[in-house]
Amino acid sequence: MNSTFSAKDGLGGELVPPPDKSLTHRALLLSSIAEGRTLIHNPLDTGDCRSTRRCLEELGVILEESLKSGERLLEVSGAGLMGYREPAGVLDAGNSGTTIRLLAGLLAGLPIYTVISGDRSLVARPMWRIIEPLRQMGASIAGRSNGRFAPLTFLPGEGLLAARSFNLEIPSAQVKSALLLAALKCSGTTVISGRIDSRDHTERLFRYLELPLVREKEYLKLEPCSEIPPFEITIPGDISSAAFFITGALISGKDLLIRHCGINPTRLGFLKVIRKMGAEAHILEVDVNCGEPVGTIQIRPGELKGVVIRKAEIPDLIDEIPLIAVIALFARGSTTVQGAGELRFKESDRLEAIARLVRAVGAELTLEQDGFTIEGGQALAGGIIDAGHDHRIAMAGAILSTGVRDKIVVRGIEAAEVSFPDFISSFRALGGEVE
Ligand code: S3P
Repeated sequence: MNSTFSAKDGLGGELVPPPDKSLTHRALLLSSIAEGRTLIHNPLDTGDCRSTRRCLEELGVILEESLKSGERLLEVSGAGLMGYREPAGVLDAGNSGTTIRLLAGLLAGLPIYTVISGDRSLVARPMWRIIEPLRQMGASIAGRSNGRFAPLTFLPGEGLLAARSFNLEIPSAQVKSALLLAALKCSGTTVISGRIDSRDHTERLFRYLELPLVREKEYLKLEPCSEIPPFEITIPGDISSAAFFITGALISGKDLLIRHCGINPTRLGFLKVIRKMGAEAHILEVDVNCGEPVGTIQIRPGELKGVVIRKAEIPDLIDEIPLIAVIALFARGSTTVQGAGELRFKESDRLEAIARLVRAVGAELTLEQDGFTIEGGQALAGGIIDAGHDHRIAMAGAILSTGVRDKIVVRGIEAAEVSFPDFISSFRALGGEVE
């Protein structure tokens, strides 16, 4: 689907972002192995989280959905740590890396035969990063190219896995979480060290559920654990979704207030960077739910200047880098992103996609293997941006229209459905036009 975006009066006002995708996945997965009934208030109900739901239903987990005073509620009857039923068909993780990687941790070693796959983008994404350590724990897993790519097949095991120590080389929350979930089935102590500096939603939920997880500065340590208690959680707004409209507000010089948004410190890298670029971002913590801080964010635009973003800063803003590229076009001086090679393994090769996005509006950038440099202040024109089936590129393209004179056409805007189902109505509600 092609949609034309423009926002001649800018984007601003008030936004309640859609529920957090990462947290919804984790609430679904942990509740599916809990002993008893979990309540998930305000879950994200879109492509990726539906993929997780569908896989869990195939595995015999009962999920009941209701709407109470306009709020979505999911009741999940957990199957227990070893209780998944052998599915009749192939589990379909769709477009969702979080679904396939985290679920792999739960499927590893179970006494059932399962095959999991996904769409054309997902079967091209690297799976070795989880398959290798899960095999070291004793799980029998096959996959294309000796386990490098999905479809992945889990052969029946005996339930228990062997505890190991891992040193992560990639700061990936999906890898870290897959290992933590697998480690629940270990007979001994699992230690994870190295690049554990990715988003920590899994760790927070484990600690909230009083699972025996210890976090030291350098490592995570999980003791054996046989029972997961049911819980009740309200999913806050997704700061990665809010980031699109924060970008729109900054480049159009408008204020924006974001309510009921997750403000987990491992997700705040984008706010830190826009402050360095000259914007104001004030955070008011109003609540903590299941260990996750929730608050209101107030954005005030400022004169934007270029920055250098280094490798160590990347994990906390990994999903927001296409937006940094958009903001860089409107900043004084140059903006450089370094050490972001992981972007090549997202829903698309996001570094190439960023280059196409920038060039589509008549600008240039210097593209490196693991980053880019963009000079601000280049002449920009409207153009056609192909989302390439990547939700974050589709939405970044639409937001770019806020700062260009002519309209922007996004080819494949429906990709936004994966994480932000109401993106078009929010764009209109904040002052933009969509045809
Ligand atoms: C996610 C982790 C990140 C992120 C993705 C969601 C998660 O991926 O890009 O959108 O929910 O754990 P990586 O773990 O591959 O960095």
